Amino acid sequence: MRKMLLAVAAAVVIALPGAALAQAPIVIKFSHVVASDTPKGKGADKFKELAEKYTNGKVKIEVYPNSTLYKDKEELEALQLGAVQMLAPSNSKFGPIGIKEFEVFDLPYIIPTLAGLRKVTDGEIGKRLLKLLDSKGMTGLAYWDNGFKQMTANKPLHVPADYKGLKFRIQSSKVLEAQFRALGAVPQVMAFSEVYQALQTGVVDGQENTPSNIYTQKMHEVQKYMTMTNHGYIGYVVVVNKKFWDGLPADIRGELEKAMVEATAFANGQSAKENEEALEEIKKAGKTQFIIPTAEETLQMRAAMEPIYKDMASRVSQKLIDEVTAASGGGAGH
Ligand code: LMR
Repeated sequence: MRKMLLAVAAAVVIALPGAALAQAPIVIKFSHVVASDTPKGKGADKFKELAEKYTNGKVKIEVYPNSTLYKDKEELEALQLGAVQMLAPSNSKFGPIGIKEFEVFDLPYIIPTLAGLRKVTDGEIGKRLLKLLDSKGMTGLAYWDNGFKQMTANKPLHVPADYKGLKFRIQSSKVLEAQFRALGAVPQVMAFSEVYQALQTGVVDGQENTPSNIYTQKMHEVQKYMTMTNHGYIGYVVVVNKKFWDGLPADIRGELEKAMVEATAFANGQSAKENEEALEEIKKAGKTQFIIPTAEETLQMRAAMEPIYKDMASRVSQKLIDEVTAASGGGAGH
C-alpha cells in the first residue's frame, strides 16, 4: 500500500508541472517603436484584444510600445532570435537584414494615395513581397498603414535649394539616403527613439515623418517649420518569427489569423483620421509654422528626386519599380 501511495504521489508530482504548463497561455511579445496613440499602436492593441478573445485566453499578447523593449534595428534581430515573436517595422527597415525590395515603398511619390497603395499590397505584388521574408526566418502577416510624410526643419523648406547642407535624420533605407542626397542634404540613419533629442540638440536639422509620429514624439516642439510635401509613404509589415508561428497548434494559428485580418481592417480604416487629428493637434500647439508648397515648388521637388528611380533600380529592381508604379498610379515624374 505504502509503495502504491508513493507511486501515486510520484505520478502526481510528475504530472503536475505538465498540467500547469498546459494551462499556461502562449505568450506573444509584440514589440514596436511608436506611441500607443498612433495607427500602429492602435493596431497592435486591437490585435491583442481580438487575439486574446478568439483564443479564449489561450494566447496572451504582450504589447511593448515606444521602443520600451527594443529600438528599430534590435527589434528585428530580437525577432529572428526568438526573443520577441511579433513586430510591425516600417517598410524602410528591412534593407539592413537583406530584403531591399521593401525600399520600393520609399521612392518619392511612388504611392500617391492609400487606394493606390492597396492595389500594390492587396494584390500579387504584396503577396510576393511577403514571401521574401521567409528566407529570413519571418512570416509576413499583413500590411498596416501609417500615412504620408511631411518634411520638418528649423528653416522654411520650399524647394530643393533650401535643403542644401542640412542634416536630416532618416530611417535605415538606401532609397531614403538617395532621396536626401538628391536634395543636396546630408542624411543620417538614426533609430526612431532618438529623433526628438537629436532635433532638440541640433545633431540633425530636420526629418521626415507622418503627422502622427511627429506629434506623439513631440518633434513639432523642436521644429519651427513643417512643409506639407506628402512626398513619401510610411507603412508597416506585421511579421512573426516563422518557427514560432509554424509551431503553433493549427486551431490557435487560425484564430490569430482571423484576429489579424480584423485588426488590419481596423488599423487601416482609421490611419488617415489618426494623422488628420495629429495634424490638428500640431496646429493647436502653435509651435510650428506650416508651409503648403505651390505647384511650381512641388514640380521642382519631383524633378530633383526623379533620378533616384534610375539610381536605385539595381538595388530595388527595375521590374518591381515598374510594377509598383503601374499598380499605384504613382512615380516622381507624374
Ligand atoms: C520612423 O522610424 O521614422 C518610423 O518608421 C517609425 C515607425 O515605426 O513609424
